[in-house]
Amino acid sequence: MPVDVLVGLQWGDEGKGKIVDVLAPTYDVVARFQGGPNAGHTLTFDGIKHVLHQVPSGIFHPHIINVVGNGVVLDPVVFRQELQKLTDRGIDWEKNLYISRKAQLILPSHRALDRINEEARGGSKIGSTLKGIGPTYQDKIGRTGLRVGDILLPDFDQRYQAAVARHATLAEFHGRGLEIEEFEADFFSAVEFLRTLKLTDTEYLLNDLLKQGKNILAEGAQGSMLDIDFGTYPYVTSSSTIVAGACTGLGIAPQHIQKVYGISKAYCTRVGSGPFPTELHDQVGEQIRQAGREFGSTTGRPRRCGWIDLPALRYSIMLNGVTEIHLMKADVLDEFDEIRVCTHYQFSDGRLTDQLPDHGDLENMQPVYVSLPGWKTTLQAISDPATLPAALTSYIEYLERYLSVPVSIVSVGPDRKSTLHLK
Ligand code: GDP
Ligand code: IMO
Ligand code: MG
Repeated sequence: MPVDVLVGLQWGDEGKGKIVDVLAPTYDVVARFQGGPNAGHTLTFDGIKHVLHQVPSGIFHPHIINVVGNGVVLDPVVFRQELQKLTDRGIDWEKNLYISRKAQLILPSHRALDRINEEARGGSKIGSTLKGIGPTYQDKIGRTGLRVGDILLPDFDQRYQAAVARHATLAEFHGRGLEIEEFEADFFSAVEFLRTLKLTDTEYLLNDLLKQGKNILAEGAQGSMLDIDFGTYPYVTSSSTIVAGACTGLGIAPQHIQKVYGISKAYCTRVGSGPFPTELHDQVGEQIRQAGREFGSTTGRPRRCGWIDLPALRYSIMLNGVTEIHLMKADVLDEFDEIRVCTHYQFSDGRLTDQLPDHGDLENMQPVYVSLPGWKTTLQAISDPATLPAALTSYIEYLERYLSVPVSIVSVGPDRKSTLHLK
């Protein structure tokens, strides 16, 4: 049976958590394949809002097996907090939660290094979430990282001390100390807690489940424009956020993958630094921010807002082999007379392109827009897709023509029920 993969097509926060929650009932397994506590996935149902960072978004469905894959970087302290919150809300997560023994551990010293590295960048900060993501993936690729399975080894404490000593020399290079003493007791007690969970070779678990005919939904984090290879480098995260990351981050072969759900807002946002061609610095951008409550789920930072960027979306669709698009937060544009769509970028010499140039060029290019009429209707009140306003249908058809991929879901509110299935 298949693996379907859900990925963000923009710069993250597209609404992935909500859609995993909507689709989850038709799956047996939900698996996270990369990223870590930099993610913040929001799910809203029964009047309650839940924000998950490392726990897969299938956790609220008792029949679903939830897997934290080997591609993830896991902070035990954040993980324990998340699970405690779920316990407080009466969610029984224990039975169906598996964690890869090969996932990398985020240590307090990784978090300290993230901050030190950002401060050292001066005016060219990445805008990292400061959760230790970059330094942990650096250790993984440098083959010096600690993995979840290592916490079961008798010499884990020595391995931890050796890693911290190494990190201290890196901090010294910037004339800084790690200053992590106050966090270490909490880290070790969270590690103790982690030891009690189902630490597993999840690549075997997932492939066995596939053989038994189970359906897997791979839950992406971040967005394709934050991908380490194809995003707006260096203003990206440190992992493969695209579909290919699901293979390496779960141990699943590509031929198992069938559907690829591409999640996009009806407009565009970005949090952190880096190029964003359609960003609006005016009242319209502010109106989107307020209507969409565009403040980060992980850091609370205001998100940068702008119009939808079709060259960037088409690029993400190409990289991921997207088979259907889910258009999120359409209701946020309810009040607008006009909706703009970026179709090209213009170089300073007047040339036009509909391809994504390298980030240096991207910073100096002007977006070229087509203007479409707004729908001026309260979409949240609509429950039958046949009654969508004509202007929204035209907007969707415009996107489908440009992107050559069908839009199969339109989301019109944060709640799981505010979801219109088009095809
Ligand atoms: P993720 O990281 O992709 O899971 O997205 P986030 O949870 O970080 O951000 C999406 C935000 O938009 C959350 O606050 C969601 O509750 C909210 N949201 C999701 N879908 C919709 C929608 O269709 N309309 C509105 N108004 N809000 C939505
Ligand atoms: P979800 O899964 C939005 C951004 C950060 C920063 C850059 C690098 O909720 O969509 P990092 O901490 O990874 O080193 O930060 O990437 N970023 C996100 N932006 N949504 C996310 O996750 C993000 N995860 C990282 O803001 O610009
Ligand atoms: Mg988010």
